[in-house]
Amino acid sequence: MKTQVAIIGGGPSGLLLGQLLQKAGIGNIIIERQSQEYVSSRIRAGVLEQGMVDLLREAGVGERMDREGLVHDGFELVFDGRRERIDLKEMTGGKSVVIYGQTEVTRDLVAARTASGATTFYEVPDVELHDLKSAHPYVTFTHNGELFRLDCDHIAGCDGYHGISRKSIPEGVLTEYERVYPFGWLGVLADTPPVNEELMYANHERGFALCSMRSHTRTRYYVQVGADEKVEDWSDQRFWDELKSRLPEETAARLITGPSIEKSIAPLRSFVVEPMQYGHLYLVGDAAHIVPPTGAKGLNLAASDVSTLYQILLKVYREGRGDLLERYSQVCLKRVWKAERFSWWMTSMLHKFPGTDAFSQRMQQTELEYFVGSEAGRKTIAENYVGLPYEPIE
Ligand code: APR
Ligand code: PHB
Repeated sequence: MKTQVAIIGGGPSGLLLGQLLQKAGIGNIIIERQSQEYVSSRIRAGVLEQGMVDLLREAGVGERMDREGLVHDGFELVFDGRRERIDLKEMTGGKSVVIYGQTEVTRDLVAARTASGATTFYEVPDVELHDLKSAHPYVTFTHNGELFRLDCDHIAGCDGYHGISRKSIPEGVLTEYERVYPFGWLGVLADTPPVNEELMYANHERGFALCSMRSHTRTRYYVQVGADEKVEDWSDQRFWDELKSRLPEETAARLITGPSIEKSIAPLRSFVVEPMQYGHLYLVGDAAHIVPPTGAKGLNLAASDVSTLYQILLKVYREGRGDLLERYSQVCLKRVWKAERFSWWMTSMLHKFPGTDAFSQRMQQTELEYFVGSEAGRKTIAENYVGLPYEPIE
């Protein structure tokens, strides 16, 4: 079997890259470990930056997002009993974000791929990458008991943090940067109306809380929990009580609760590998970097990697610009590190750190106070939250 670009992983990164390449007439095959149903039902993030919104439209999958997505022009920071709105639109000269779940993005991409007739192998347990440094790399795997060899020009490693792409790079090539935070987020999805029209990020002495949503009738709430907490220990009632205790009184009083549709705990970590490429293998999205969810950057960062690789491959196949390939990692990493910084900063500013001393607590409070009290501070938060610009490939 032969294709131009072999895509490992059919999460949002792999599917979006596949769809863009497909539209441009560049051959690609996606190889995914899980089933299509599993991929389409994972509950993840829900805030899309303008750059990602534009990219989804360019890929031809923006129709339902444009119809059902909620445009948000601001969000709130809650601390010290105060609610402070960050006006994204005003602070960025007209930019905003769109609330549309990653689950929905994935479903739209899967539907578009099916309609395009492009090949996807699901439930592949044993992908291996070969000859990454040669001009003729290839991928081997079994599907339904049959052994396959896929020859290609390039391999996009879109297989997430636990994938095999990053692990296929020889030891000594990559440098890893990591920070593991001493807490996690307990998230609940429920069919209840949102407590507030916009997202609320709360710093509270009991720990961080976030009020988010998927639509006017579906909400996503989170509370910070200890790193060793078990989801089984959190009944719906305990979750709602804890959430309410961390919100301003009038907000807690308005909160409508209901049975959880999904409940899970996610650890928080920052992670980056450098470089994001090796020979003809390019790491994309979570395969190369993880951000704590506090800045809503994970999915958006995956989209900007996809955009960079797509722009480069387009010029490689249409204009013979093979020279651009070596720039992939460097272009991505510049934006990746800035999003890492913002996510780390939002995390540091909003969470309760176990064992922290009184001075650090005052510093955190003052940091919030300073940023929301200054126009420059609000602008800094807003321009990062709506997403820093994509670098054009020339
Ligand atoms: N072979 C094939 N596929 C694999 C393998 C493997 N060895 N290992 C993992 N995969 C698949 C996973 O099953 C998953 O479907 O790769 C996909 C990776 O998807 P994600 O982890 O979602 O990563 P990515 O597509 O980069 O999406 C970016 O942004 O909001 C964040 O973490 C969130 O998932 C989100 C991410
Ligand atoms: C979510 O809705 O799941 C969500 C929103 C904002 C974040 C993180 C998660 O910062």
